[in-house]
Amino acid sequence: MLLLSLLAACDGGPGAPAPAAAEDAPTWHADIAPIVQEHCGSCHVAGGVAPFALDDYAAAAPMAASMAAAVEAGTMPPWGAETTAECAPRHGFKDDIRLSADEKERLRAWADADAPEGDPSAAAELPAPVELGLTDPTMEVAPALPYVTSGTTDEFRCFSLDPQLTADAWLTGLQVVPGNAEVVHHVLVFADPDGQGANLVGADGTYDCFGGSGLSGGGGALLGAWAPGAFPFEAPEGTGIALDAGSRLVMQIHYHPLGEVAEPDSTAVQLRLTETPPGREAVLALLGNASSSIEGLDRGVNDRGARAEFRIPADVPDHVESITYDFPRGSGTYQIFMAGTHMHYVGTDMLVQVDHAAPEGDEPATECLVQTPRWDFNWQRGYAYDAPLDEVPVLRGGDTLRLRCTYDNTLDNPGVRTALEDAGLSAPADVYLGESTLDEMCLGVFGIVL
Ligand code: HEC
Repeated sequence: MLLLSLLAACDGGPGAPAPAAAEDAPTWHADIAPIVQEHCGSCHVAGGVAPFALDDYAAAAPMAASMAAAVEAGTMPPWGAETTAECAPRHGFKDDIRLSADEKERLRAWADADAPEGDPSAAAELPAPVELGLTDPTMEVAPALPYVTSGTTDEFRCFSLDPQLTADAWLTGLQVVPGNAEVVHHVLVFADPDGQGANLVGADGTYDCFGGSGLSGGGGALLGAWAPGAFPFEAPEGTGIALDAGSRLVMQIHYHPLGEVAEPDSTAVQLRLTETPPGREAVLALLGNASSSIEGLDRGVNDRGARAEFRIPADVPDHVESITYDFPRGSGTYQIFMAGTHMHYVGTDMLVQVDHAAPEGDEPATECLVQTPRWDFNWQRGYAYDAPLDEVPVLRGGDTLRLRCTYDNTLDNPGVRTALEDAGLSAPADVYLGESTLDEMCLGVFGIVL
């Protein structure tokens, strides 16, 4: 019976009777509203970062088919860290907003039955709305001047912020609060220990920067990475990131072109700082090949000489760069509470693994930390393990960390098309290591407790 009515729903051309909702089809009020609130509600609400709301029946019903399709394609909700044949992290991730197989099926069955509303008086209880603000922030810093984007190209602007640290402090939490959500695409926050950024900004209060802080010597530590809908950064209980007295912050914003001059943006950063030293120090470490160093780079099949080179040849759909770091014996033990990947527009897949020299307990000899097999520059983030600190993956002296980045430098890659378009080019060219849009990186992002 259900099968028949589904077929009718698909075949219902002009003149066909409107399909009656199958009696046991899921309904908005009984089944779908709680799923949408929990998995889509961080973005698809009025004033959220998504371009349309899905938070009531009238808004969601016309979108039912595309909702089911986007969820099945894995594009919604945006989430990069997948379990694959090559990568099965031992722990799940915090703030994982993916749907279970059963929830996906219910959404599909609802869409196929023409999105029945159901009975509002018998509605299922909704989960609490998703809260993206930092709990107990101690301050919020924002640029003095709102920024107006040109509206025609992607822009990478850095702002210098002053948290007025008169004493050494520890950062235990951070969240970015986007101003104009239509244009703020993603945000990185760095420490600026000697306050260089203040001298770099122009009359509009910003300077141009792409991959990093744009500070000489690489600047200070990464403090946070934000993409639309991201949950706050939380250092593990009893840890914090050290910030020296007098440090400023650099906030790098990637602005998306709207095609017209946008409303001014005033994006702010919420911080939770304490002057009481926590028990242990946390750091966000970047390991891999970034602006110019090819330390650890392995020779690859497309390299031209005897030595390893970081070059992603034009028109090659499956180029691989791999990087191997051997941690010297006796170099200490690091607990990895969060892992993430970073490439630019040519990247398609990144895998991060540790080979344990002497596995302990149920630790596998080769442990996968994270894989992002559908890399999307627009949705990068860190993935924090949903496990107590004493159970997260560990890197010890003698272990080997391996990064593998795959790139598709052809016009089949939508990222390549975007990057070429922005640069006013039409054909792929060889891509090298660097900071610009048409350069690449192969960089792991690690939240580590020392
Ligand atoms: C982290 C924020 C975020 C979450 C969570 C999210 N979306 Fe989206 N969604 C967006 C944004 C932003 C767009 C606009 C297109 C883009 O930028 O990819 C979008 C676009 C869409 C579209 C338009 C077609 C498409 O695939 O681009 C559909 C349909 C959609 N979302 C459905 C959902 C559903 C269903 C959920 C929950 C199961 C969900 N989204 C969760 C941010 C989000």
